[in-house]
Amino acid sequence: MDRWEGKVALVTGASSGIGTQIVNALAKNGMKVIAVARRLAKLEELAVSIKSEFNGKVYPMACDVQKEEEILKVFKWAEEELGGVDVMINNAGVMVNEPIIEGSTENYRKILDVNVLAVAICSRELVQSIKKRKVAGHIININSVAGHYAEMITMPISLYSASKYAVTAMSTSLRHEITKAKHDVKVTSISPGMVDTEMLRSAAINLGLDMDLESLTILKDTDIADAVIYSLNVPHYVQICEVIITPHEALATKNPRPFSK
Ligand SMILES: NC(=O)c1ccc[n+]([C@@H]2O[C@H](COP(=O)([O-])OP(=O)(O)OC[C@H]3O[C@@H](n4cnc5c(N)ncnc54)[C@H](OP(=O)(O)O)[C@@H]3O)[C@@H](O)[C@H]2O)c1
Repeated sequence: MDRWEGKVALVTGASSGIGTQIVNALAKNGMKVIAVARRLAKLEELAVSIKSEFNGKVYPMACDVQKEEEILKVFKWAEEELGGVDVMINNAGVMVNEPIIEGSTENYRKILDVNVLAVAICSRELVQSIKKRKVAGHIININSVAGHYAEMITMPISLYSASKYAVTAMSTSLRHEITKAKHDVKVTSISPGMVDTEMLRSAAINLGLDMDLESLTILKDTDIADAVIYSLNVPHYVQICEVIITPHEALATKNPRPFSK
């Protein structure tokens, strides 16, 4: 990670789960990390604990990624105060547990705004920042196995799978565009299976699933942060395009896929 030491990363959805662990891992590796989400108090707590634990540099900022003007404000602040953003981690995500055929348009919009449009806006702004400064950059999209294998998920999760398929396609389109424009920016899509976070726990409650998380073989948020560090840490000429991470289901003592009953 020497290449990225002192460089700036922006992590969306940093107030819990996978995002919090990514902030922690990047700061531990010497990056300056702008941590954004709506719950500012949680971000401030994270920044204080990282500073006291290993003197890591985390900059907490409230940002609702459904609002483009709030995303643009973060990029402007990053340019003025830290020079710009080098690594963009598109992690913020929402899942809604209702069927599409009974669902609200408001929820369709929320899923598409957070899981798709914010990824596009942040990726565009990252590339513009890199272009201006002629430096190296990296976009990492936290996707999902739901963005590759919708047939495995029979529980109602509204447009979640559709939104993650969009992230799969967007990651490829970005890679093509960036290659054509000859910017020094890599694009990585990381697609986890079930990870023990707030999102999974509240989905289990909403869907009335009998999920004894202790008896399932399930990923930890730190496993995904490890994949982020791996993707950033490869030699400059290597690009990790797609990482699919699933639990080793042979170890499960219960139905390993409770989302597909
Ligand atoms: N858990 C899993 O099993 C799993 C599996 C595959 C992929 N993923 C993906 O991993 C990513 C992280 O999810 P997680 O599991 O860590 O869930 P989580 O603990 O619920 O975290 C979701 C994060 O997104 C943020 N967020 C939601 N809406 C936002 C908005 N409008 N503006 C800004 N931030 C917003 C939340 O922060 P605030 O509420 O403070 O705004 C929170 O920090 C998501 O993209 C998810 O789709 C998760």
